[in-house]
Amino acid sequence: MVETLGVCIGEATPSHASFIARTMPKLGEYVVLHFDGMRVLGMVESVSRGSASISGDILSPEVVERILSFEGEEQYIKAKVRLLGEVGSLTMPRIPPPPGARVHRADAETLREIFGRGNIKLGRLLTHPEVEVYVDANRMITRHLAILAITGAGKSNTVSVIVEGLLKLSGMPVIFDMHSEYVNAEFSGGVKRILPRLNPVYLLYGELKRLVNIDEKAYIQERYLREAHSHALELVQTSPASLVDEMLSYLEEVYRSEDIPASEKNSISGVIGKLMDFREKYGDILDEHAPELVEQFEQGRANVIDLGSVDEEYADVIVSHVLRKLLHRRKQRQIAPAFCILEEAHILAPAYRPTLSKYWIDRIAREGRKFGIGLCLVSQRPKSLDPNSLSQANNAIIMRLVEPSDQRHVQQASERLSDDLLAQLSSLNIGEAVVLGLMTRIPALVKIDRFEGKLSGGDPDIVEEWQERMRGEEDELERASREVEELYSGME
Ligand SMILES: Nc1ncnc2c1ncn2[C@@H]1O[C@H](COP(=O)(O)OP(=O)(O)OP(=O)(O)O)[C@@H](O)[C@H]1O
Ligand SMILES: [Mg+2]
Repeated sequence: MVETLGVCIGEATPSHASFIARTMPKLGEYVVLHFDGMRVLGMVESVSRGSASISGDILSPEVVERILSFEGEEQYIKAKVRLLGEVGSLTMPRIPPPPGARVHRADAETLREIFGRGNIKLGRLLTHPEVEVYVDANRMITRHLAILAITGAGKSNTVSVIVEGLLKLSGMPVIFDMHSEYVNAEFSGGVKRILPRLNPVYLLYGELKRLVNIDEKAYIQERYLREAHSHALELVQTSPASLVDEMLSYLEEVYRSEDIPASEKNSISGVIGKLMDFREKYGDILDEHAPELVEQFEQGRANVIDLGSVDEEYADVIVSHVLRKLLHRRKQRQIAPAFCILEEAHILAPAYRPTLSKYWIDRIAREGRKFGIGLCLVSQRPKSLDPNSLSQANNAIIMRLVEPSDQRHVQQASERLSDDLLAQLSSLNIGEAVVLGLMTRIPALVKIDRFEGKLSGGDPDIVEEWQERMRGEEDELERASREVEELYSGME
């Protein structure tokens, strides 16, 4: 016989109820409510404790002690539950539980049946560590995912656990690695490191314009850049010429032409200057022979695009370029379904600024489902992340979040996050997460597994590095003084 944890009290709805408990339930714990022949699963979303005779307006500790001395420690424990659906089918009840309905703790078997169905293991239930939590890869990919938390809370670890899970399913994860964190990671399928080399010939005019840094309002410069681009593009189709060199010689020729009004010559020399800066700045990463980035992707390996050493503009171009090509390839069914992980998503899809990536992130968020491209937006600053893209992520793994404005932003994008769960976010420890969305069937508080393969982005040991450097410096001094001594002894 299962021990009764408590009984329902007060007014309930088909989605929420309160109960008085005998022992303290844990936040996030699952309970089963018995009423009208049904067994309905619920999650404890808040707990409170009080005493009927010691009310909040007693202002003297002596009075409280006196009441306690003749009444004993008579207290009540009250909990609020969110109903999640009938055990088994998880269909929502149409009627609310009546007062007096019995509440039991959910047993491990019931929970294993719910959380054991997916195919990627994330971790274990925080409140029932004996229950492993699996998520459904299909639902994760087709409905996208957001991983949000303050820095150091465990986002990259979670990404690694998911990538490892995808590789076990012969998946094709693509990581846009903004800090070269994953390039040396030990995934079971191995890492395919992809250098962010772009062939300028494959750049769209808009992508090129962003890198050349032509001002939005510089219409004349824009016109000349566009002209030079289409002229050079035509040339390089038939000859081994360099696109950027051809653009420059075209512009220089136009500059010398007598038909051009003097007023426009300034603009042309402006474009020439910018194009030369562009060639100098990105000389190492633009490569006229580079193969298309998406051609290099391999199924069954972690495809890591190493963006650690490029600036934000270039990263933006790479991300938009890859997403665009990937969508195109998937429409033709020329490449395997992919799961694209975007670290620092608030830089690529910022809330109040247009970027090239934002457009493609938004498109894939809307169309990706049909074509088998999933997005995973990872960010430590949710409030700076484009709300539009964020709201397309139907799955979320939210770890420790402290700032109320970040919490509210996340709540607006995810209607499943109740006020009570939201209040939990600031008290989560490293690796603990609220997991929401279709991939998990019902919301869960999860302790994410620790990724076993090495990851280079973890917390650095600063003290060790100081000491190592100091040791190095001391060795250097010792060597120098030995050399000086030897020099003098040679002179004697
Ligand atoms: N589930 C976990 N179990 C145990 N340790 C963890 C877990 N998640 C993260 N850690 C540890 O916490 C540290 C920070 O984790 P991680 O790098 O994943 O954080 P992050 O959220 O990606 O940080 P940042 O915002 O700086 O990228 C790492 O040293 C990692 O090993
Ligand atoms: Mg990280």
